Amino acid sequence: MSGSFIVAIDGPAAAGKGTLARLIADYFGLAYLDTGALYRGVALSLIEAGLTAPTEAEAAAAALNLDPGLLQSPDLRREDVGNLASVVAAMPAVRAALDSFQRNFAARPPGGAPGAVVDGRDIGTVICPGAPVKLFLTASVAARAARRFLELQAKARPADLAQITAEIEARDARDASRATAPLKAAEDAHLMDTSNLSIDEVFARAKTIIETARQTRT
Ligand code: DC
Repeated sequence: MSGSFIVAIDGPAAAGKGTLARLIADYFGLAYLDTGALYRGVALSLIEAGLTAPTEAEAAAAALNLDPGLLQSPDLRREDVGNLASVVAAMPAVRAALDSFQRNFAARPPGGAPGAVVDGRDIGTVICPGAPVKLFLTASVAARAARRFLELQAKARPADLAQITAEIEARDARDASRATAPLKAAEDAHLMDTSNLSIDEVFARAKTIIETARQTRT
């Protein structure tokens, strides 16, 4: 088998991409890149600099100077960080600034891994259009809001289902309607609606798809 084996996972907020990506990476020994964390890192660095309504130039500068240490911060998961991430992700100069990091990671995964699982919104369409496996996860807004709500409750954090639902709808609308790299499934992506599936079921389906693709490549 030649080259890096790439599994691209796209889909809307809270569809379960991160959980699935980690399971696949562990099982197949692949490196994992959560590209949403890059956009969240840009947003967090802007918020920390007091720039809560940045211009495109300010946001692009933050993306070019992104501190990798910030990508481990628990603050990345904050709702305000996710919302600003979705705003800066619509700016072409920010996407361009993060492009080569993502492509390099996929082509030459760290730690000598034989490939990478990369999740985001435009991985199968823009960043890794040649990936041998493309998965597009969806789930109803109600299912995604309920999962977020339970996650927050489990962490004893304040959770308001109506507010979470409204935020997911707003984020979906922004991510899908932007002009540059909007959220959309690649033509050759496997679509999976996870609304009524457990994570074990989603993983089992993904595993079959990946194993088939690996056999085809060898
Ligand atoms: O997956 P996430 O919720 O951590 O992503 C945060 C925001 O970043 C999301 O609203 C859209 C944006 N994003 C993007 O535009 N492209 C990606 N490849 C990943 C995330």
